[in-house]
Amino acid sequence: MEHIRVHDKTFVPFLTANQISDRVAAMAAQISKDYQGKRPLLLAVLNGSFMFAADLFRLLTIEAEISFIKIASYQGMRSSGKVVTAIGMEQDLSGRAIILLEDIVDTGKTLHHFIPTLQQQHPASIAIATFLHKPEATVFPLSLDYVGFSIPNRFVVGYGLDYDGLGRNHYQVYQLAAEPTIES
Ligand code: IMP
Repeated sequence: MEHIRVHDKTFVPFLTANQISDRVAAMAAQISKDYQGKRPLLLAVLNGSFMFAADLFRLLTIEAEISFIKIASYQGMRSSGKVVTAIGMEQDLSGRAIILLEDIVDTGKTLHHFIPTLQQQHPASIAIATFLHKPEATVFPLSLDYVGFSIPNRFVVGYGLDYDGLGRNHYQVYQLAAEPTIES
């Protein structure tokens, strides 16, 4: 694998396509085991999770549904902070076993703020499956049920993840190259 350029930055190989497919298969096997007979509803958080969601979903060996949502947050009229809504959640979630699919949990802010919105619909359970997790960056408390890879706190692209819109279309994951050091 060669390095790639995305916009003005250079990225170097980090996870191979084989590492990814092996890990996603293992996650699908674990979820299939844990959710046997529960007909889970997977909610894939767009845009970044579409590739992970497609690969994971087709490897499930149990009955399951999938829906794609987009999380939007905006400042409410009051100063009390962010209002988080999801586009594409028309389904009735009450009593359902929900599995949120994320591309990456970084600070954890997105899901931390979204989960209360989800809880208002009284699902039977909510689990989180994330392809990547940056433990050093996570500051909002979240319990992650399925993690593909825990990675260092460095920006990554590929396998659905982007840098400013580009870089999603790779089988591999690439990591931002270290800045060249000044040689003395
Ligand atoms: P969080 O709310 O801080 O956990 O951020 C989650 C979102 O930030 C992800 O769904 C990504 O869209 C984006 N993100 C965070 N880190 C990266 C990265 O290294 N590469 C690409 N996108 C990232």
